[in-house]
Amino acid sequence: MRNFDYCNPTRVIFGRGETDRVGKECRKIGRKVLWVFGGESIKKNGIYQRVEARLREEELEVFQLGGVKPNPRIDKVREGVALCKKEGIELVLAVGGGSVLDTGKIIAAGTCYAGDPWDFYIDNSKITSKIPLVTVLTLAATGSEMNHNAVITNEETGEKLGAKNPVLYPTVSILDPENTYTVPRDQTVNGIADMMAHVFEQYFHPVPETPLQDRWAEGLMKTIIEYTPRVLENPTDYDGRAVIMWCGTMALNHLLEEAGGGGEWTCHPIEHELSAAYDIAHGAGLAIVFPQWMKYVLDVIPHKFAQFAERVWDIPREGRDDYSLGLAGIERTKQWFQQIGAPVTLKEVGIGPERLEEMAERAVKRGKIGVTKVLGKEEVLEILKMSL
Ligand code: NZQ
Ligand code: ZN
Repeated sequence: MRNFDYCNPTRVIFGRGETDRVGKECRKIGRKVLWVFGGESIKKNGIYQRVEARLREEELEVFQLGGVKPNPRIDKVREGVALCKKEGIELVLAVGGGSVLDTGKIIAAGTCYAGDPWDFYIDNSKITSKIPLVTVLTLAATGSEMNHNAVITNEETGEKLGAKNPVLYPTVSILDPENTYTVPRDQTVNGIADMMAHVFEQYFHPVPETPLQDRWAEGLMKTIIEYTPRVLENPTDYDGRAVIMWCGTMALNHLLEEAGGGGEWTCHPIEHELSAAYDIAHGAGLAIVFPQWMKYVLDVIPHKFAQFAERVWDIPREGRDDYSLGLAGIERTKQWFQQIGAPVTLKEVGIGPERLEEMAERAVKRGKIGVTKVLGKEEVLEILKMSL
């Protein structure tokens, strides 16, 4: 196990009805609020009206910034930063999924920075402080509600990049599972594929002797597998939504990786090129790429894939060596993605061979990726071709 220094400062308020605390939580921090949200979903399901009423009760001065798109853009961040600076905003409130939360994070950090917020994506160390950030999560997927990442797209440069910095942890996050009842089936599936992928990125690593971290990861994967049918069959199953929501948070609040474990983070940069070039859902891209990456690195850590097959999928060894047992686990993973309705080939999301080379090149533009196998352009291209 590796040495570590782990601190997660986000206060999480979890449970039915907790959305109503948003006004008081904001008021504890300040009076002038920039409220960031996405499209029409929160107006249709009533979250907007509910949050608005709670903010009004506390007599907060609220400025609104709606219209954050999935795969959020730097232009929207710039608009928010300008508003915060002009109006002397004291805190950001982000109500939505990962796209809205990530936008809120970079607005909050950009408000304390003299230059252009895209600079953060060239050099993460330029993020040095932020104004406080309160979030109300409406979609279980990214873990953004309790982590220090923010992924933003720059349409001018065609890049979709992640910034990481401990400054970006939200101050307070309200996780009310009922807010996810209206998430459509395809987005629910994308979110579940994303959280599974987060666990994969932090499970298939070559760091030796991480038994506790492995069991945490396996517990998360088994729980996600067990509860997925419940939320797909009954979108208003409170306990189903609650379990999936907390799994999504735990899958990427850095506990698995930063508290002595390991991290791979190869399929994420590859997927970000797919969603940057084709604007597909992040979770969908991961469901396509991950089983192929798994096959590609199986020979380096076959024992880990065998452990995964036995412990997560309950596949009996039946005399097989690690490699063939691991392969059975990978096949089972792909079948599971298919079963829950996720795409498993690029063709299914309308991506052909035309731009694979360009995407492979971009994925390694800032250096080779991966740990188990270090991947350059040619290796990424091979994985993308396997994904066709
Ligand atoms: O725009 P609205 O109308 O709000 O609709 C959204 C959007 O169309 C809808 N939605 C959200 N909550 C809903 C709802 N619809 C009905 N009922 C609700 N309660 O869902 C759609 C997708 O929303 P989005 O926020 O884009 O989804 P997600 O949470 O999956 O976030 C994806 C983004 O996060 C990045 C991804 O790359 C992508 O840009 N990621 C962020 C990470 C992080 N910060 O740690 C890590 C991830 O690996 C990921 O890269
Ligand atoms: Zn992800």
